[in-house]
Amino acid sequence: MSVPPVLLGSKVNLGPMPESTDFQALYRTWLNSPRVVEGIGGGDCSLEDVRALHKQWKDDPNDCSFCVFDRQSGEPIGDVNLRLSGGEADLAVMIGARPGEGLGTEAVALALEYAFEELQVEKVRLDVFEENSAALRLYGKLGFQTTDFVLDESTGRMEYAMAMDQDEWLRRGRERPDSQDRATAPR
Ligand SMILES: CC(C)(COP(=O)(O)OP(=O)(O)OC[C@H]1O[C@@H](n2cnc3c(N)ncnc32)[C@H](O)[C@@H]1OP(=O)(O)O)[C@@H](O)C(=O)NCCC(=O)NCCS
Repeated sequence: MSVPPVLLGSKVNLGPMPESTDFQALYRTWLNSPRVVEGIGGGDCSLEDVRALHKQWKDDPNDCSFCVFDRQSGEPIGDVNLRLSGGEADLAVMIGARPGEGLGTEAVALALEYAFEELQVEKVRLDVFEENSAALRLYGKLGFQTTDFVLDESTGRMEYAMAMDQDEWLRRGRERPDSQDRATAPR
């Protein structure tokens, strides 16, 4: 995809991935941290691996990867990835710094708002390992439903497939207390 837009939240902003070596080195420390390895697998990642991954995303017309920034300090703290395919999207998120402060929830909500309301995606899907309590809680809270529970062949771990339809997102939006403000606020 071409450069993704900047999306403003109350605690985080989403924006294009920085291309500096400093950011790639930071991203590497996130990917190799025990909490992230536990959450998504992998680990033992080199700086070259990170560069290749970010280049692959940048070159892929169906990829919409956002860096997550702390709104106050402007520091990068993680990423949210949308991979678009035939009116649907796969989503992944990683909060590398400052987990457990509600930043992941807000980052995913901003990405979903963009996917469903700007890109007009009809369904967003994701997979999550069964032991990943924080991610399961986050996705459930935002409205994802479990659609399957399967063995991930590559890791031997069980994972939930989850999905949310555009209709469900819009229905929940109308029920949000601030929906009136959102409907009238300039975009
Ligand atoms: C999963 C992840 C994105 C969550 O981001 P976060 O910013 O830490 O999450 P939040 O602070 O928004 O919390 C989300 C919910 O999970 C709960 N939670 C946070 N950490 C938790 C933990 N270690 N165990 C259980 N629940 C937890 C929070 O209490 C919150 O629920 P609540 O609103 O009912 O209180 C983040 O931990 C992460 O990047 N993990 C590694 C990568 C990963 O697993 N990505 C998801 C792949 S599917």
